[in-house]
Amino acid sequence: MENRSRSGYGAVTKFLHWTMAVLVIWQFLKFFDRINDGEHWVGETLVSWHISIGTLALLLIVLRTCWTLTHRQQRPAHEQKMAFLVNAGHFLLYLSLFLLPVTGILRMVGGGYGVKAFGWQLIEKGDEVSWAASLGSLHSPFAWVLLILVTGHILMAVYHQFVKRDGAFARIV
Ligand code: HEM
Ligand code: HEM
Repeated sequence: MENRSRSGYGAVTKFLHWTMAVLVIWQFLKFFDRINDGEHWVGETLVSWHISIGTLALLLIVLRTCWTLTHRQQRPAHEQKMAFLVNAGHFLLYLSLFLLPVTGILRMVGGGYGVKAFGWQLIEKGDEVSWAASLGSLHSPFAWVLLILVTGHILMAVYHQFVKRDGAFARIV
């Protein structure tokens, strides 16, 4: 049974939070493909895992959403006047984390490339699918939105830790 209380997140949430954080930051390295067409160390080593890591991220975000929904009563309480903003920010993070891998998969399917993750062919190569390609073209704009949300999220964490000093950071570490 997870030890999540009104004053802090439990072990499962912490584990999912930090695993997702590492994976998402890894995925952001895909922006480096804009430099020299990805022909550099980052592009050739870390970014080459983009589809595998993205597919794993989808699995984790689905697990995390299920976990959060089934443990709603045990969520830590937030300052009342800020609760709406905090919850809205976290909701947008969850939504983007879900839409990113989904649009990534649609982009691959739309182009007829199929999806192969960690050596497993999850979706076979095939014909181009125009509706999937159209939705998949939202992948890059969504990636920029997620980057802005994550940057704001980290800045808020730093603000709580060093300016407000209200122990918000301690709830998730
Ligand atoms: C949390 C999951 C994911 C994140 C955060 C993410 C993030 C990104 C980022 C930052 C870019 C670069 C965008 C740009 O330079 O404008 C990108 C591009 C791309 N991603 Fe993802 N991605 C994720 C999942 C996936 C998945 C699951 C797939 C495929 C199955 C995928 C396929 C692609 C492709 C094909 C591109 C190149 C797009 C292009 O050149 O226009 N991504 N992604
Ligand atoms: C990089 C990707 C990250 C994503 C997608 C992300 C997402 C989230 C989400 C959705 C929550 C709400 C918890 C829940 O509902 O389960 C949360 C909580 C939190 N995150 Fe992150 N996070 C990321 C990185 C970070 C980093 C790098 C830090 C620290 C610098 C951080 C600090 C926190 C803190 C302090 C909380 C608790 C806020 C509260 O009191 O409710 N996060 N994060």
